[in-house]
Amino acid sequence: MAYSEKVVDHYEHPRNVGSMDKDSGDVGTGLVGAPACGDVMKLQIKVSPEGIIEDAKFKTFGCGSAIASSSLVTEWVKGKTLDEAAAIKNTDIAHELALPPVKIHCSVLAEDAIKAAIADYRKKSGQGEDEAEQAAG
Ligand code: FES
Repeated sequence: MAYSEKVVDHYEHPRNVGSMDKDSGDVGTGLVGAPACGDVMKLQIKVSPEGIIEDAKFKTFGCGSAIASSSLVTEWVKGKTLDEAAAIKNTDIAHELALPPVKIHCSVLAEDAIKAAIADYRKKSGQGEDEAEQAAG
């Protein structure tokens, strides 16, 4: 199957590959796997005190479309608020990369990964729904 030009571009020149310290208080980490194929994606965000995503990194063990999807998402989320980043849809990714139907789950992985990273950050920073200490307020 032929990959689209954009997939090949991100695959050959992936943006923001790497890792951040997952124990750092301003870093959120999302680690997700695709049941369909076993591919794994790690996506991390670094959030400013104002709630803006300053940096993003990924490591993906998966197909070209998964690598391209995560590379694209790390570019998209930089400069966004957490809510804006959480609103990214896999369909936006699939459309941008012109993914064929059999590769849609690769973009779902990227959406899940950014959502998981945001949830992790919120939990750490005390914005999580369940973990928030009610007594503290
Ligand atoms: Fe599974 Fe792409 S084939 S993530």
